[in-house]
Amino acid sequence: MAVHIPGALVDAAYAGVGRPTLFRLGGGDPEVAHETTLDWLAWWGRTPARRALLELAFGSRGTPVEVAGIRFGGPVGLAAGMDKDARALMAWARLGFSHVEFGTVTGQPQPGNPKPRMFRLRPSHGVINRMGFNNAGSEAIAARLELAGVRRGNHAAGMPVGVSIGKTKVVALADAVEDYLSSLRRLVHLVDYLAINVSSPNTPGLRSLQGADELSGLVRALVDEAAVQAEESSQSTLGPVPVFVKIAPDLEWSAIDQALEVCAAAGAAGIIATNTTLGRDGLAPEDRPLAGQAGGLSGAPLTARALEVVSYVTAHTDLPVIGVGGIMTADDARAMLQAGASLVQIFTGFIYSGPGLVRDINRLTTDRLAVPRG
Ligand code: FNR
Repeated sequence: MAVHIPGALVDAAYAGVGRPTLFRLGGGDPEVAHETTLDWLAWWGRTPARRALLELAFGSRGTPVEVAGIRFGGPVGLAAGMDKDARALMAWARLGFSHVEFGTVTGQPQPGNPKPRMFRLRPSHGVINRMGFNNAGSEAIAARLELAGVRRGNHAAGMPVGVSIGKTKVVALADAVEDYLSSLRRLVHLVDYLAINVSSPNTPGLRSLQGADELSGLVRALVDEAAVQAEESSQSTLGPVPVFVKIAPDLEWSAIDQALEVCAAAGAAGIIATNTTLGRDGLAPEDRPLAGQAGGLSGAPLTARALEVVSYVTAHTDLPVIGVGGIMTADDARAMLQAGASLVQIFTGFIYSGPGLVRDINRLTTDRLAVPRG
C-alpha cells in the first residue's frame, strides 16, 4: 500500500513556504514563478525514482470516468496554458491529475506578446494574462511526446494526454483552417484528444472563429481530417481522435446555442467551457488598478460565470462537457460536476491552492455519495 505524506502537511507547506517563495520570485513576476514551477516539475518528472517521490508526496486518485471513449483515472485535469510545450510531461499524473491539456500550440513557433503579460490579482485570487500563445510550435511538442514514448492510447505519461491547438498569429484568419490542420496532422497519432482553441482573447480575431459559419468550417475540417488520418493509420482500431471545442465565457446565450449546434453537427466529441473572460467583475478594490490590463481574467472572479455557462451548456447539448474556470476549492469542482460536467480542469486554483486542491477534488469522487451527479 502506498504511503502518503499527510494532506494537512502538504497544504501547510504550500501555504507557508511554497506559495510565498514562488510569489516572491523575480520580484513578484508571475511568469518567473510559472517558469520556475515548470522547470522544477520537469526535473522531478525526469527519472522513475523522482516520479515515485512526487507520487509519495502528492499522489491521489479519483474515481475513473470514461468520456468520449477515453478512460480518465479521475475527475480533474490541468487546463491548457500551464504547460504549453509539455515540459513537465511526466510529472503531472504524479500530482493526481487525470489528464493534462498541453498547449495551446500553434502551427508555427512564436514568442507571444511582449512582457509583462501575466498579472497576479492576489486579493481577488485571480490572474490576468495576455500571453498570446507563446509556444515552441506543434512540431516541437510532437517531437517531445514522441521522444517520451507517448502514443495515442498508451498512457505513457501516466494519464491520457490532450493538446490544445490554436492559430499562429502571423497566419491570416482566412488561412486559419490550414494552420490548425497542420497541427492536427502532427499530433493525431500521439494524443488522446485535441482541443480546438477559438476562445483565447489574446490572438487578434481568434474569437471570431466562434461564429457559426467559421466554427462549422473549422470543426468539420478537423473532424474530417482526423477520420482520414485514422483510416490511414496503423492505430485505425482506435477510431478518429476525439476533437473538443473550447468556448469563451463571454458569449451570449444565442451564440452558445449556435456553437453547440454546430459542434454537434460537425462531429465534435465534447465542449470545454470556459476560457478566460474579458469581463472585470468580482475584483477586490485593491485590484482595480490592474483591471485595465488587457487580457483574459481567470480564477475566483470567473467562478460564478463559468458555472453559469457550464450549467447552460450541459442543459443544451448531449455532448460531454469539461468544466473549467474559477475552480478554487473542491466545493467549486463539486458544483461543476453537479451541473453535469463530466470532468473538470484547473489552472488558477492550482496557483493559489497548490497540489492539495487536486487531492481534494479527487476525494470528492472517492468519498461515496459526495457528488450526487446532476
Ligand atoms: C490560460 N488559459 C489558456 N487556455 C487555452 O485554451 N489555451 C492557452 O494557451 C491558455 N493559456 C493560459 C495562460 C494563462 C497564464 C492562464 C491563467 C490561462 C485559460 C485556462 O486554460 C482556463 O480556461 C482559464 O484560466 C480558466 O480557468 P481557471 O484558471 O480559472 O482555473
